[in-house]
Amino acid sequence: MLIEPIIKGVVAKTAHPLGCKQAVKQQIDYVKSAPKINNGPKRVLIIGASSGFGLASRIALTFGGAQADTIGVSFERGPNEKSLGSAGWYNNIYFKKEAEKEHRQAINIVGDAFSQDTRDRVIEAIETYFEGEVDLIIYSLAAGVRPKGESKDESDKFWRSAIKPIGESVTGATISLENDSWTETTIEPATDEETESTLKVMGGEDWENWIDELINAESIAPGCQTIAFSYMGPKITHPIYLDGTLGRAKIDLHQTSHSLNLKLANFDGHAYATVCKALVTKASVFIPALSPYLLALYKVMKNQGTHENCIQQMQRLFSTKLYGQKLVPLDGERLLRMDDWELNSETQAEVTEILNHMDSNNFTQLGDYEGFKQEFLQLNGFDIPLVDYSKRLNSESFINLTP
Ligand code: NAI
Repeated sequence: MLIEPIIKGVVAKTAHPLGCKQAVKQQIDYVKSAPKINNGPKRVLIIGASSGFGLASRIALTFGGAQADTIGVSFERGPNEKSLGSAGWYNNIYFKKEAEKEHRQAINIVGDAFSQDTRDRVIEAIETYFEGEVDLIIYSLAAGVRPKGESKDESDKFWRSAIKPIGESVTGATISLENDSWTETTIEPATDEETESTLKVMGGEDWENWIDELINAESIAPGCQTIAFSYMGPKITHPIYLDGTLGRAKIDLHQTSHSLNLKLANFDGHAYATVCKALVTKASVFIPALSPYLLALYKVMKNQGTHENCIQQMQRLFSTKLYGQKLVPLDGERLLRMDDWELNSETQAEVTEILNHMDSNNFTQLGDYEGFKQEFLQLNGFDIPLVDYSKRLNSESFINLTP
């Protein structure tokens, strides 16, 4: 069979297994040639390990100097009658193959990170493969729903995140990757219930539950650290992000980092909320009215030579900030800032200038739409150099692969 990219709005409906394989390899090659992670962790649990920042962390820590063994949790789809499965499914498979070539443990646990069953499987894997303890826990979930667990009512079984402003509506453009079009949209403010639900799905509570569970299971090694990823962005994005429902959830995550830091102090460990740069991922293209900012940001940072993708951000995080230093550099609110280059004032002045002139007619020229779309396609295994997309794939050879 031939696999073509099929996009609906901002969601990819197909993924190319061999493209995913090559994309994982490219990331491995990058970290092998980058400045090394010194004194890094050896046993790492990554919750949300199959794409974006989670996958990049896993690759950086395994191949970028620390030589870590990893357990990765993700929620991905394998092959069925309709499709060969999701990109993350193949990222898990090919990451593991590459890690095993270098005699590293790479355990994939595919399941809902919010469920007790997945937690039990993780704790069992820590017992079996990590001699019972982890040195680093990375919380990198980008989820849309979280089961309430105890609810018996079918219609009330999940908290669902709603990416909306709070208080006032926001008007901005949404870009469809399906037909390369720009649509002005007005997003009405969230209800209190939507704000609360988004906080439940994307805030700090589940991160804290995971760490509590690992503490109770005696799975925390001396000096163990935990990080979770956040975004703040410049003022122009605040109405839809920081001052909206997602921002509310991220502020909750920041507060959780302080309480987790106190809990991990008992193990000489630490917890940090890590604020990253805005990047094209499966999750971020979903945020309404953020795409024009991403296009302008990519254009400016690429011109300035400061653009980083997920793997570059993660290798820099572990090699220059979290490990190998006497002190982890933090801002006044105890946040670890990886958005330092994005928020540089010259960068932001240029981004604002571009955004002031960007509209439906010129967004592909003024912004880096080509780079934006290419990164999106590459997340799903398409448009990757050295992959022969004209070659028919034998689906049988993928059906039996397991993560
Ligand atoms: P992503 O969509 O690329 O990856 C999300 C991961 O979570 C995948 O491995 C997926 O399988 C897993 N996942 C989702 N729901 C799950 C569930 N119920 N159970 C188990 N696994 C589940 O997302 P991305 O962008 O890497 O986001 C990770 C974190 O980084 C998020 O908290 C996001 O807010 C944050 N972040 C993202 C930025 C961006 O620009 N992409 C910027 C700054 C922070």
